[in-house]
Amino acid sequence: MNVGAAPAAIKILCVAGARPNFVKIAPLMRALAQRPVFTARLVHTGQHYDAALSRVFFDELGIPRPDLELEVGSGSHALQTAEIMRRFAPVVAAEQPHAVLVVGDVNSTIACALVTAKTLLAQPFNCALGLRRRPVMIHVEAGLRSGDDDMPEEINRKLTDAISDLLFVSEPAGLDNLRREGVGEARLCFAGNVMIDTLLAAQAQAQRSDVLTRLGLQDGGYGLLTLHRPSNVDDPAALAALLQTLDRIAAELPLVFPVHPRTRAQLTAAHAALVPPRWRLCEPLGYLDFLRLTSGARVVLTDSGGVQEETTVLGVRCLTLRDNTERPVTVSEGTNTLAGTRPETILAAWERARAAPTHGRIPALWDGQAATRIVAELERRLTPLPTAADAQR
Ligand code: UD1
Ligand code: UDP
Repeated sequence: MNVGAAPAAIKILCVAGARPNFVKIAPLMRALAQRPVFTARLVHTGQHYDAALSRVFFDELGIPRPDLELEVGSGSHALQTAEIMRRFAPVVAAEQPHAVLVVGDVNSTIACALVTAKTLLAQPFNCALGLRRRPVMIHVEAGLRSGDDDMPEEINRKLTDAISDLLFVSEPAGLDNLRREGVGEARLCFAGNVMIDTLLAAQAQAQRSDVLTRLGLQDGGYGLLTLHRPSNVDDPAALAALLQTLDRIAAELPLVFPVHPRTRAQLTAAHAALVPPRWRLCEPLGYLDFLRLTSGARVVLTDSGGVQEETTVLGVRCLTLRDNTERPVTVSEGTNTLAGTRPETILAAWERARAAPTHGRIPALWDGQAATRIVAELERRLTPLPTAADAQR
């Protein structure tokens, strides 16, 4: 084995591929740029490619242009995951990073983690983690578990965590889950929530968005809906039934519905008559407009992961249209309620939400500093140290 001299800086490849990834990677890229010891390169897999799902986040959140674009596009899970791996492998081989950082739970996350975990470096290096023959695999937003293996993200989460060296956790349940799965303390770090770093940094700017005026709405006078989980939208009959229930709520409170492309494709098949003015359908919104709409909403109805967290921090009532959540702190401490997907559970949750005032508190370390903590920890753990061979020279 040829153990080289300690490199001067830590080279890290950061990966983002889909809408929630961009929101999470933004503060990490910023925090890495502030520490000269890091050379950070950004890889965009191209899992999401529409401007409304990708470019707008780079523009609004000041994410640097990707250094590398894999342009994988859409496909089945097997095709998309395989294609990301096929295109990412030569990147890792060429870049020879000390570490690869992935966020969240999308196909880009597991695909790039799997490639990294099997890549041998041409030149091993030493750091606080020991002699590294492979890049250090870092997962940010580790440990979340819905307990539902029918959810594709749950498979991505479990597999990514299993092959990651450093697991940065956003809420206490994440630590519990990983410990229960036998992960040792040395791999764990409770750092807080990077998605909330982005929210707090953008809040003032979002308040200046004119989206309410554009849509003819007033604070507190509408609900906000997002739907894109395959279990809710892929079967037209199930989607039609869900929208029929939500139409009962829309009769009382107009619902703004920025439609995800996965859902858009199913709306016609579902024969959903979503009639204005009670329904306001639009394309997916940019981050600032969406944040403004969330903060002014009387209620948010969603099956999104990130939106459950954002409503908790904004103190806005959230009814999650699912039977489980991988983010339980949003229920135990925040403003989230699991409303399920059946008419009786959704309407009962809506009745309760209307009757009671919203209260909740902001979870620990959701304070805007998560990325700074993560980067400080990475500096401590990854700074190259002299190897035994160096010492003998
Ligand atoms: C993906 C993630 C999901 C995440 C969501 C965020 C996986 C398994 N799923 O789901 O965890 O919550 O992103 O939004 O990684 N499409 C477009 N334009 C695009 C991208 C996609 O029209 O820019 C359409 C394509 O028809 C595609 C479909 O949307 O087949 C689904 O896209 P895909 O990335 O496979 O999954 P999402 O449902 O977006
Ligand atoms: N979001 C957005 N515009 C929209 C819908 C969502 O900017 O029209 C943001 C939202 O504020 C959150 C992120 O997208 O930051 C969540 O992504 P999504 O719901 O697609 O994925 P999930 O969190 O469910 O994986």
